[in-house]
Amino acid sequence: MAQNHHFLIITYPLQGHINPALQFTKRLISLGAKVTFATTIHLYSRLINKPTIPGLSFATFSDGYDDGQKSFGDEDIVSYMSEFTRRGSEFLTNIILSSKQENHPFTCLIYTLILSWAPKVAHELHLPSTLLWIQAATVFDIFYYYFHEHGDYITNKSKDETCLISLPGLSFSLKSRDLPSFLLASNTYTFALPSLKEQIQLLNEEINPRVLVNTVEEFELDALNKVDVGKIKMIPIGPLIPSAFLDGKDPTDNSFGGDVVRVDSKDDYIQWLDSKDEKSVVYVSFGTLAVLSKRQMEEIARALLDSGFSFLWVIRDKKLQQQKEEEVDDDELSCREELENNMNGKIVKWCSQVEVLSHRSLGCFMTHCGWNSTLESLGSGVPMVAFPQWTDQTTNAKLIEDVWKTGLRMEHDEEGMVKVEEIRKCLEVVMGKGEKGEELRRNAKKWKDLARAAVKEGGSSNRNLRSYLNDIACITQ
Ligand code: UDX
Repeated sequence: MAQNHHFLIITYPLQGHINPALQFTKRLISLGAKVTFATTIHLYSRLINKPTIPGLSFATFSDGYDDGQKSFGDEDIVSYMSEFTRRGSEFLTNIILSSKQENHPFTCLIYTLILSWAPKVAHELHLPSTLLWIQAATVFDIFYYYFHEHGDYITNKSKDETCLISLPGLSFSLKSRDLPSFLLASNTYTFALPSLKEQIQLLNEEINPRVLVNTVEEFELDALNKVDVGKIKMIPIGPLIPSAFLDGKDPTDNSFGGDVVRVDSKDDYIQWLDSKDEKSVVYVSFGTLAVLSKRQMEEIARALLDSGFSFLWVIRDKKLQQQKEEEVDDDELSCREELENNMNGKIVKWCSQVEVLSHRSLGCFMTHCGWNSTLESLGSGVPMVAFPQWTDQTTNAKLIEDVWKTGLRMEHDEEGMVKVEEIRKCLEVVMGKGEKGEELRRNAKKWKDLARAAVKEGGSSNRNLRSYLNDIACITQ
């Protein structure tokens, strides 16, 4: 059935969006489908390890910033989004129309977050479309509730940090700190909520709306099966991480990784990890967008040094990622030299995270809880120290600590700072031989096994994807 499909996939041009979309592409192709992957000229030029596999082609368009993409945090993001929408819609219209002249035209559009214009174009041109939700199903549900009758309830309750927010179908309650940050009064990314609202509204207008969710059925049973999201069918098909890491094959076969961050020198961090004992290394990374204050970085550095644990820390180079000049300059860390000279520690500007997480020396992951990082950690069976920053990361941290019980969330002080003592305490528990550490590791192993089983032949995600392909084939016939 999949042989008849030709998918057009489009994502917002960010690493965290493109990674799961590329992995999804790979799954579709392995089932016999053809895929055209559309992205901006700039992102395509930064893509390293561009996959060249039969059935896959790339199509690029200009977002007006071919030499350098606008930073997500830029104040100008609203005007960028409007230009991106105009140019993206025009590109999508042209490519869909010209595909109709070919002997294997597109059969379906797959689009990711904050691209509400994409399904509109597809609809106008009578092309079926499906949202690929690249965050947790729980996050989708919270937004759905927010936009459907629970908006005032969530807003009112979230004003008091101690209030519990109960949403029908979810077996756990949330505090304001667990909500996606876009729903809080403190949110400054004003463009995001209207875009998400429109995206969910458009689904409601479809006859049989389907949402492919980058999660595993067994990870989020309540969110997928007990929450009423109207007529929307949620289809868990994750985790969308390189199959080499899930199948237990050679993890260095990461040729389909899709990194968009170029690092000039090939670092020797894998050799360094090879020299470490089993489960002895703390891996520290805060994803692709979050920027921590210098003060916060100092607290982390001091805690790592004092703890005595070996650590691999990704400190992104601001030149690599369009950070604003005034933002943290890693060279300014007062203990930088001490960090660099520490035999137990290694600092890199970027690494192949999936490769690192699947290394036998990994003991825990201090993470910002981006959804990709969370899934990669669960898929590798690595317990976490959660340090969420914004967007969905706060909800992911709640799931990590209270639902999957595979990590600890660090507490901050009144000024929002997580201090040395707290960081050390959490690291010692997660890395330690005590009862809690053992429990976290046991649970981590359980989720890893479930993630791996889900994508195998006959596993839940594998079955769900096949069944989705059959449904789409019926629509397009
Ligand atoms: C943000 C949101 O937090 C996330 O939930 C959303 O779905 C996408 O945007 P981001 O900061 O990009 O995420 O983090 P994350 O979702 O974890 O994605 C980062 C990706 O970059 C991961 O796939 C990770 O493996 C990769 N990465 C990161 C590397 O390969 N090497 C690094 O050194 C750092």
